[in-house]
Amino acid sequence: MKPDPLNDAKILDSWHKNAQPWTRAVRNREIDSRRQVTDAAIVNAVLSRSPASVLDIGCGEGWLARELSAQNIRVTGIDAVAELVEQANNAGGGDFHVLPYEQLAAGDSGLMADLVVCNFSMIGKESCEVLFKVMHSLLHPGGSWVVQTLHPVTSCGELPYADGWRTGSWAGFSSEFTDPAPWYFRTLQSWVDLFNGSGFRLREIREPIHPHTQQPVSVIFIAEPD
Ligand SMILES: C[S@@+](CC[C@H](N)C(=O)[O-])C[C@H]1O[C@@H](n2cnc3c(N)ncnc32)[C@H](O)[C@@H]1O
Repeated sequence: MKPDPLNDAKILDSWHKNAQPWTRAVRNREIDSRRQVTDAAIVNAVLSRSPASVLDIGCGEGWLARELSAQNIRVTGIDAVAELVEQANNAGGGDFHVLPYEQLAAGDSGLMADLVVCNFSMIGKESCEVLFKVMHSLLHPGGSWVVQTLHPVTSCGELPYADGWRTGSWAGFSSEFTDPAPWYFRTLQSWVDLFNGSGFRLREIREPIHPHTQQPVSVIFIAEPD
């Protein structure tokens, strides 16, 4: 059987290849939707829960940890890509560890926080679903889970509005980026079902709007264990 080129392993291949241009793009604030909408939206969503400690899952080069630590929040970040974790540790703002979600889900990381945040880091299928299985064990009592992801309605394009793998694209990014990661599209209903079916209650769904297009750029789920 031919291997399916659209799968979870491909996602990490791509992030390993693009760690350097990604770090530059984030630090130079080159991504319009982040600059205009989604960076502030995720910071506000986290601050709205007043956590003393945050676990940033799929932290990348660590910008969110730096923002939150400036608000006196203790942040730990994990990511599978060593180069990104190194960039995060060099810049400070938290403790950052190389840890793929699959290993985190295996159980004995000892990591726990008042709030877990996943900012555009739940990209795949199985790699996303393992986080739903382990999330209860990562949260202190009374804790919250905050997830920001592409808005299913505006990211669907011309394809059917149904769960499934999509080919990635670096359209709008510099020519330094290569081999875009595939991603697993989920409808809004599918996201809601995942939270509800995994022992979480959704406290809020936010839909940050782009000021120019007036369309939702992302969706933010704020959930608590049942
Ligand atoms: C779009 S970037 C977002 C990074 C960061 N959260 C931010 O807001 O800039 C997605 C991140 O998820 C990480 N990631 C994706 N799948 C992962 C997995 N299975 N285990 C650990 N990290 C993963 C990638 O390495 C990458 O750093």
